[in-house]
Amino acid sequence: MRLRNGEHGYGAVTKLLHWLTVALLAAQFTVGYTMETDTDVPDVACDPAGEDRSGGDTSDAEDEQLDLLEDRCEAAQDRREDEADDAVGTAWSDLWSGDALGDGLTLPEWHVLLGLSIIAVGATRIVWRRTTPLPPWDPRLTDADRRVLHVVEPVLLGLLIVVPATGIALVVGTDDLVPLHVAAHLCFFAALAVHVFVVVRRHVVGRMLPL
Ligand code: HEM
Ligand code: HEM
Repeated sequence: MRLRNGEHGYGAVTKLLHWLTVALLAAQFTVGYTMETDTDVPDVACDPAGEDRSGGDTSDAEDEQLDLLEDRCEAAQDRREDEADDAVGTAWSDLWSGDALGDGLTLPEWHVLLGLSIIAVGATRIVWRRTTPLPPWDPRLTDADRRVLHVVEPVLLGLLIVVPATGIALVVGTDDLVPLHVAAHLCFFAALAVHVFVVVRRHVVGRMLPL
């Protein structure tokens, strides 16, 4: 099989980079949705049983005991939320300092490593795309399909950098950027859906397969 794209179709390097990206993204979305984030921590009702009894029903000592239980429960809940919130940020610092390399990687550490690998593969694809010609269009693609692919493919390539960049911005910057990270990956889903719809509908998936 030829390495570069040409009259024969896509070459081995483009195909390898294409399916490597798909595999890394499948792993990354699985990790992203599986790891615990702030919003996943279940709400715990910290009001102790009996708190609703009031006035003369409870002694001062009993009131104090109930308040203490409630405070402890709320502190534990805040700690769980903070830990989930900071998990990827801590993974980011531990990976830089080498602390993460001890005993197996946690899901947030995988999230950071996969994100950095996606940036590396995305950048390689952009460079490769600029240095190798595209093969001729498949005759099964209509003019409209070609226009759509022509717009969507650079968007997909760009989002391979932008999505992880918003993740990095959120761990080195502020948590306020979580909605940006989520919005960026939703844009990616939208572009991917269009891309896959066109190539599956016109039965041209084989052009990217290793055969
Ligand atoms: C292409 C690469 C990436 C993809 C596809 C991706 C995708 C995701 C997904 C699906 C989630 C879960 C969001 C939710 O629960 O709705 C998530 C959360 C998160 N990601 Fe990424 N991510 C990527 C790269 C990164 C990188 C490189 C970092 C930081 C170094 C990062 C930081 C975070 C953080 C901090 C959260 C938790 C946000 C929260 O508190 O809800 N991501 N990401
Ligand atoms: C996961 C994210 C994906 C990204 C970022 C992506 C990106 C791209 C890009 C940029 C191209 C243009 C060729 C190049 O420069 O490499 C391309 C071509 C192609 N992709 Fe994807 N793709 C993805 C997923 C998929 C999936 C899941 C399929 C199969 C269902 C697929 C099938 C194809 C095919 C068949 C072509 C060649 C289209 C033609 O005939 O010209 N892609 N893809």
